[in-house]
Amino acid sequence: MEHRYISKDPAIASESNLPDYDTLRAHFTWQSARRTTVGGNIAHEAVDRHVAEGRGDVIAFRFLAEQGPSREFSYELLARESNRFANVLERLGVAPGDLVFTLSGRLPELYVAMIGTLKVRCVVAPLFSAFGPDPVRQRLQAGRGRVLITTAAAYRQKVAPIRGDLPDLEHVLLIGDDVAGDIDGQGVCVLAPLMAAASTEYSIAPTGPEDPAFVHFTSGTTGMPKGAVHVHDAVVAQETTGRYALDLRPGDVFWCTADPGWVTGTSYGLVAPLACGVTCVIDEADFDAVRWYSILEHEQVSVWYTAPTALRMLMKAGDEPVAGRDLTHLRHVASVGEPLNPEVVEWGETLLGKAIHDTWWQTETGAIMVANFASMPIRPGSMGRPVPGIEIGIVRRDSSGERVIAESGQPVFVTQPGVEGELAIRTPWPSMMRAYLNAPDRYKACFAGDWYLSGDLARIDADGYVWFIGRGDDVIKSAGHLIGPFEVESALMEYPAVVEAAVIGVPDQVVGERVEAFVVLGGGAEPSEAITRDLMAFARRRLGSAVAPRRITCEPALPHTQSGKIMRRVLRARAQGLPEGDLSTLGGSG
Ligand code: WT7
Repeated sequence: MEHRYISKDPAIASESNLPDYDTLRAHFTWQSARRTTVGGNIAHEAVDRHVAEGRGDVIAFRFLAEQGPSREFSYELLARESNRFANVLERLGVAPGDLVFTLSGRLPELYVAMIGTLKVRCVVAPLFSAFGPDPVRQRLQAGRGRVLITTAAAYRQKVAPIRGDLPDLEHVLLIGDDVAGDIDGQGVCVLAPLMAAASTEYSIAPTGPEDPAFVHFTSGTTGMPKGAVHVHDAVVAQETTGRYALDLRPGDVFWCTADPGWVTGTSYGLVAPLACGVTCVIDEADFDAVRWYSILEHEQVSVWYTAPTALRMLMKAGDEPVAGRDLTHLRHVASVGEPLNPEVVEWGETLLGKAIHDTWWQTETGAIMVANFASMPIRPGSMGRPVPGIEIGIVRRDSSGERVIAESGQPVFVTQPGVEGELAIRTPWPSMMRAYLNAPDRYKACFAGDWYLSGDLARIDADGYVWFIGRGDDVIKSAGHLIGPFEVESALMEYPAVVEAAVIGVPDQVVGERVEAFVVLGGGAEPSEAITRDLMAFARRRLGSAVAPRRITCEPALPHTQSGKIMRRVLRARAQGLPEGDLSTLGGSG
């Protein structure tokens, strides 16, 4: 297959942080990338180190409020405020290793709390603010969270109703000042006065590279979400990829549009850019085409990391919101999370004057593994090449689609370029997940011999560029977010009239995949518009807008395998109007 290249101006390439990929790749070691400072705590590497080295005045964060003035935090202010939070947390009696959950929009307090939590060596477990009470309960229970940082509104809506199911949750700290009625004697406190009373001095105790730092919940095909555990050493991979894959340089204004409820929003919305010492723009508001272009222009964003869904939404908004804007500060644009179609790459080239650099990674990898680099020609549709320090391979699959593993336990790789198989990464690397919380078997199942098996299907061409084929499982990717069908099905099953439910992703032009559900009713309930509407509202209330199905269809029965498993792939074929026998284009094991 032949592809068009988007070549790079040699001057731009030579100025980039990675002018010579092959040479750096040949010499790079993670050990040499590791800084040997006391502790190596992420909060030290990302924040305090800059103050100690005389860069405290540099702006770390510019928070754009949905309404009202924006707020700036220099590295020094961020160091002091996160010290306050560390002191607040310590006063609560937490121990290193305890999970501290967050559930909030993109407010300054959230970022301060995350950094402060790392300082006391507690583990940050972010939840997405568009989750409903079900996903919140599920994750807080799985992580036995002792502390939750949230807003009064989120607490009222999503936590208070399930508080009885959370015996481990001792302390809830509320961000904001509209909180009067929420102090219910169950350990709920308002954060602001505690912060005001806390000292701005805090000294981070020595932190081991293998001490846990973050837990990110992620969905698989079966079972409830898994908590991927990441350690402080991950900052080495995050800083390195920030420098080489995102081309972050001192003086840059960086905008990562991802929410810190997901791994992109912490690895690249917080850790990597701060470790690189740049200025991060954080926008509290949700997507809006005019607002986004105006942020790019007025904040003079130089490096922008976003997602295909957002780019497609901008594309849909047309040229008008961008006409006459000065986007000349924009130097590097990158994307992640779902397939970046070549049309979008080309649109970026024409409209923004910038090609879009796709990158690939996963919650489990903790940092970018494959990228189109600033210095390298882009092949629209390809995810790029492995980052320095990362070795990848394509594992063979047999005729039934099972991965081939040799008797030695090592995977068997395809030997020819262009052959499809499962994308694997040689272990270890600093930001590799170290465990799934309380699920050692599920963790073990991700590895064979020396290799991590990603579950994604891909091929590598003769020049080493990686092409995404599809996922090897039933997990849904909607607007860049992973959604586990099982979690949605479980919520639907709670509805009294539902006896069976199957949830799939249906291709969508803008968000990649839409969540759709098929249910079988029982107990004498008849399919009707009223019951579907009620069920939709029920699902939205329980799951929240990020996860709830966009459409629910009542079926007389669902297709099953002989062993009784629901065949989601048959439903996917039906939803796409494909013959049910022809499942070749669908991926997934059903
Ligand atoms: C899955 C991981 C967003 C990264 C961190 C969130 C899909 C990721 C690409 C890409 C096609 C992609 C894969 C992967 N994915 N990047 N450039 N092209 N698909 O990670 O939520 O754990 O999702 O996102 O299927 O396995 P995540």
